Amino acid sequence: MTTRIIGTGSYLPETIVTNDDLSKIMDTSDEWISSRTGIRERHLAKEETTSSMSIEAAKRAMADAGVTPEEIDLIIVGTLTNDYMTPSCACEVQAGIGAENAFAMDINAACTGFMAALHTAHAYITSGLAKTALVLGAETLSKIMDWNDRSTCVLFGDGAGAAVVRADEAGLMSYRQGSDGAKGMCLYGQNRLNNNPLVSNPTKLEYIHMDGQEVYKFAVSKVPACIQEVLDEAGLTPDDIKYFALHQANIRILQSVSKRLKVDEDKFPISLDHCGNISAASVPILLDEMNRKGMLNRGDKIVLAGFGGGLTWAASVLTW
Ligand code: ACO
Repeated sequence: MTTRIIGTGSYLPETIVTNDDLSKIMDTSDEWISSRTGIRERHLAKEETTSSMSIEAAKRAMADAGVTPEEIDLIIVGTLTNDYMTPSCACEVQAGIGAENAFAMDINAACTGFMAALHTAHAYITSGLAKTALVLGAETLSKIMDWNDRSTCVLFGDGAGAAVVRADEAGLMSYRQGSDGAKGMCLYGQNRLNNNPLVSNPTKLEYIHMDGQEVYKFAVSKVPACIQEVLDEAGLTPDDIKYFALHQANIRILQSVSKRLKVDEDKFPISLDHCGNISAASVPILLDEMNRKGMLNRGDKIVLAGFGGGLTWAASVLTW
């Protein structure tokens, strides 16, 4: 018994902001952004929230899977930008879709968030604690960007992606995940400081800070190694894999991973050109785009992989 993805859905905010649009409000250019990252535009939330986007993505995934809200017994959202500290985004999704039989919780594994949600759902399903789960990655990253820091704010976007997973004979074949907390400060955003009566801390807004080159070095070494491990465990080679659906941080990271694995770049589908980097939402949005384009047939073997803040990383091989 394993865990199979039986439906996908996603939601992107209505407002599209191109690199040229950004160049009108800060000192940047389409040439700088697209040549270094592959990103040409991103969707930014105006009315949308992390929860509202998640609810819409969840409804679309349930429609694709043909399941009712009552059948969902677990909801996990990977996010670092939930609307409230409590209730969790997952609880808001539960209320929004009427999944009254579900247990709901969020996971923060930054850009690895969807993978962490998927693997946690797998643990619940294979232990018998759940049968049908909704796993999501959702972010409103634009609210934690410093819009005066051109080196980070141009990279990210907003959106949500969801998958319905269920106990089945085929599905997840192997998985790996890991963390390196000692390197956490390569990519960080501090939370609010303690402000109880015993301490006095300045109230100031904190944003995401990133050492781009360190993150790049981490990604291009850890991700191919992790993918090779899940392939070995599944008894497969890269040739057996139809697609490698990776976290969409940067086109150069994807090109480097494809080179290290000796796999044609065409096997690495892209959404970062029109979405930017949406952290935990990248992988499920990409997967939904692939699904809706008819790129996936039952029985195909695919690799999913996420990597990012923490530092964290994870990969799995699955049968579609
Ligand atoms: N527009 C124009 N110029 C810019 C911009 C911008 N948006 N941002 C930075 N610059 C300038 C800098 O000021 C600097 O100028 P200087 O040389 O005069 O000082 C110059 O461009 C180079 O800046 P670097 O930060 O060194 O740029 P780098 O070549 O490293 O590229 C990038 C930055 C694209 C982020 C790169 O480090 C990278 O690919 N990192 C991988 C990590 C990544 O993609 N992270 C995404 C989020 S993390 C994740 O999802 C896992």
